[in-house]
Amino acid sequence: MEVDERWLPESGAPRSIRSFVVRRARMNQSHKNALREHGDRYIVSLTDIAGSPLKQFPDTCGPRAGGRLLLEIGFGMGHATADLAAARPTDAYIGVEVYPPGVARLIGDLEEREIDNVRIVRTDAVDVIASWSDEWPVDGIHVFFPDPWPKKRHHKRRLIQPSFLESVHRILRENGYLYLVTDWEDYARHMKEVTAGFGGFVIEDADPDGYSRPRDWRPTTAFERKGLSRGHAIRELFLRKR
Ligand SMILES: C[S@@+](CC[C@H](N)C(=O)[O-])C[C@H]1O[C@@H](n2cnc3c(N)ncnc32)[C@H](O)[C@@H]1O
Repeated sequence: MEVDERWLPESGAPRSIRSFVVRRARMNQSHKNALREHGDRYIVSLTDIAGSPLKQFPDTCGPRAGGRLLLEIGFGMGHATADLAAARPTDAYIGVEVYPPGVARLIGDLEEREIDNVRIVRTDAVDVIASWSDEWPVDGIHVFFPDPWPKKRHHKRRLIQPSFLESVHRILRENGYLYLVTDWEDYARHMKEVTAGFGGFVIEDADPDGYSRPRDWRPTTAFERKGLSRGHAIRELFLRKR
């Protein structure tokens, strides 16, 4: 297969345990075209985003324009990303994903729908958060259906860990939110336990089981559909920074 550097994720800091494996990319022709023709407009590097995230956006969006600065981690094929960004054009929306066909599909979608308030970083979200400047606090962070790593020996790969909550808490503005959603019951329980242990967040709008009631503005994602077709229940934690 022809190799284009842009198809590959940007490598972050060396780390022995990651929450993803880099899957061999199967790019169809429209993915390849989207990357080649429009990649430069939407893809930003880790260095660009760490220094000054808002500089990567038009002046018509983000906190300077009365909108919010939002981060989505692991957007997959990016359907929810594009829908949310289109619904609130004054928000500045940064999507983080390491799966090249997902990056390419989202770029094609943004281009077709003329959505200009999304920028994409193709590297480990752990590195994005670690290098984030305190100067640009984030209003909200979305983690929709993170890889569940169901086998016990893989639990250490799960993204939601105490260290993750700590670093996310640092980059959120006061009263900002972290929105976690999963269809894996034991991962949901783990998320709730880790949240309780950390203590820097309040679970908003909790039901009797201690999970948040769904936000009506969240679009259904591709992995959510898969989970629902397997009969999985969806559990959400909408966490507000104390
Ligand atoms: C199960 S999929 C869910 C995708 C999408 N949010 C959805 O609901 O359809 C999880 C995605 O997170 C990405 N991912 C996992 N760990 C990541 C990390 N540390 N940084 C960036 N992306 C990550 C994977 O590549 C994968 O596409």
